[in-house]
Amino acid sequence: MDWWRTAVVYQVYIRSFADANGDGDGDIAGIRSRLPYLRDLGVDAIWITPWYPSPMADGGYDVADYRAIDPRFGRLEDARGLLADAHALGLKVMIDIVPNHTSSEHRWFREALAASHGSASRARYHFRDGRGPGSAEPPNNWRSVFGGPAWTEAPEDGASPRQWYLHLFDETQPDLNWDNPEVRAEFESILEFWLDIGVDGFRIDVASFLLKAPGLPDLPERSEAISRAEDPASWDPAAHPYENVGGLHEIYRRWHAIAQRHGAVFCGEVHLPPAFTARYLRSDELHTAFNFDFALRPWDAGAFRQSIDATLASCSAVGAPPTWVLGNHDLPRPVYRYGRPGAVPANDGWNAWGRIEPSDRGRGLARARAAALLYLALPGSAYIYQGDELGLPEVLDLPDEARRDPTFRRSGGSDVGRDGTRIPMPWSGDQPPFGFGPPGSRPWLPQPADWRELSVEAEAGRPGSTLELYRAALRIRRDDPGLAAGSFRWLASPASTLLFGRGGGFACAVNLSTEPMPLPSGARVILASARVGSDHILAPDSAAWLVLDGAGTEATWPS
Ligand code: NOJ
Repeated sequence: MDWWRTAVVYQVYIRSFADANGDGDGDIAGIRSRLPYLRDLGVDAIWITPWYPSPMADGGYDVADYRAIDPRFGRLEDARGLLADAHALGLKVMIDIVPNHTSSEHRWFREALAASHGSASRARYHFRDGRGPGSAEPPNNWRSVFGGPAWTEAPEDGASPRQWYLHLFDETQPDLNWDNPEVRAEFESILEFWLDIGVDGFRIDVASFLLKAPGLPDLPERSEAISRAEDPASWDPAAHPYENVGGLHEIYRRWHAIAQRHGAVFCGEVHLPPAFTARYLRSDELHTAFNFDFALRPWDAGAFRQSIDATLASCSAVGAPPTWVLGNHDLPRPVYRYGRPGAVPANDGWNAWGRIEPSDRGRGLARARAAALLYLALPGSAYIYQGDELGLPEVLDLPDEARRDPTFRRSGGSDVGRDGTRIPMPWSGDQPPFGFGPPGSRPWLPQPADWRELSVEAEAGRPGSTLELYRAALRIRRDDPGLAAGSFRWLASPASTLLFGRGGGFACAVNLSTEPMPLPSGARVILASARVGSDHILAPDSAAWLVLDGAGTEATWPS
C-alpha cells in the first residue's frame, strides 16, 4: 500500500512551530528538535509551509528564490539534515511549492519591471495595458483574494502608457504566466532540485489557479466571491477565467511523471467541489488534494454526511484516496468555528475570515475533539494542523499593530485575516514564549498569556487532554490498518447523529444533536472525546470509537 493513501500528515507552519535560535521565527533547527514529538504523536509525514527566501509579505507564500532556504529558517544543509532525521524516524517530508506567483523580489519580476513592454521578461508574468483613457483603469475586473483589485500599476518606466500586472493575491505576489514554456520548464526543474535533495512530496499552493483563460476575460457580473459564497450551486467551476482552466491537467500530468521517477507525491490545494477536485486526482495527475469541502462544513450531521458521501464517491471513481482536513493556517481554528452558535455557514472559508463572531470555547472544544475522532476514523489520509492536537483556540484579540496578514491591510481592516490561527506553538512553561523559543525571546506573533494549560508539556500525560486523545486515536489507527484503508458503510442511527462501520466491528459514533444518545447495544467503547459512563450514553457534541458485537454485522441503535 502506498504510504500516502492512508498517511496522517502533520502540517508544520514553520514560522510558528519551534524557534531554536530565539529570533522570534520558527526555524528548521526547531523542527528537527521536535521531530521525536511528532513521531510519538503518531503521524506518518509532515508538510512544511514555504521555507524559501522571502520578504514574508504573505508568510513565505511570496517566494524570492525557489532553490534556497530563507536565512531566518536555516540553510540548505539544515534542510538536508532535517530530511535525514525525519527519515531516520520513519517520517516522510512534504514541502510547499508555490507556482502561481513569485515574490515581487524574485529576480524574474525585477527583470520584468526593468524591461520594456512586450519583452520576454514581462512575458513570464501577466503585464497588460490598462483600460480607459491613459490606461488608467485595471485591465479587467478581477479581485485579489486578499481584497482590492487584482491588478497594480507597474512603477513608472518612462514608457507610455504604464502597464499593470496581475496578482490574484497581494501586490507583492505577481502571477506567473503559465502559458509561457519557460515558466513550465523552470518549475519542472525546481521540482527536480528538491526531489534530488530527498523530499517525499509537495503540497501545491493554489493548484487550481495557475492557468488563466485566454484574453483574461472579465468575471461575470456576479463575481466569483459573491456567487460562490451566496449561491454555490450556480457557481460554475468549468467556466471560470482563472480557476480550474482546462489546460492545468496537462501541466500536472508532466509533474506526475517527474514525481513518479522519484517515488514522490503531490497534494494539491484545490478549492473546488469534490467532483471537480477528483478530475485532478486521475491516476496520472495529482496523488491527493485537500478536502476543503469537508473542512468547511458546519457542525451538522447532514452536512458532514453529504460531504463524506460526495468525497468517497468522487475519489473512488478515480481510484484516489480521500483526504480529511479540519484546519490549516488559512482557516480559523476548529475550536472557534464549531463553537459559534447555529450552523456555521458553508462558505466560512479560507478567504472569508472577515468579522469575528461570538463563539463558545467550551462547546467549540468539545466539538473539535469529536470532529477529530470523526475525521481520523474515515478511510484515506488525514491532515493535522499544528496545535489542533492541543485544542488551541483562535486568538481573536490580537492588537492591530501585531497583525501581519496582508488581508488585514488590503481589506482596510474589515477582514481580520489569518494571524489568529498562526500563533506560535506553546510547548512548555508558565509564560510566553512557552518554550516556542528560548526564555526571553519574543515570538513574531504574541501568544496569549493564559496558554499555560494548553502547552504540550501541560497536556502530555494528562488523562482526557486533547493531546492524549489524538495520541490514542493515532495509535489505534496505526494498530488497525483496516481503519485507514478498509471498508466504510453507514449504519442506522437517529437524526443528528452519525454512525459508520469500518469493518472488523469497528464503528464511529458522533452525536451532533442536543440530546444525550444511547450507544448501540453491545458496543464496547475504545476511545471517546467525552466521558462515556456505564449507562453507555454519548453526550451531545461528542464522539466515540466502538467495537460492535458481531464483528461488522449491522449495528442496532436503540431509537
Ligand atoms: C494558499 C496559502 O495556503 C495561503 O496561506 C496563501 O496566502 C495563498 N495560497 C497565496 O499563496
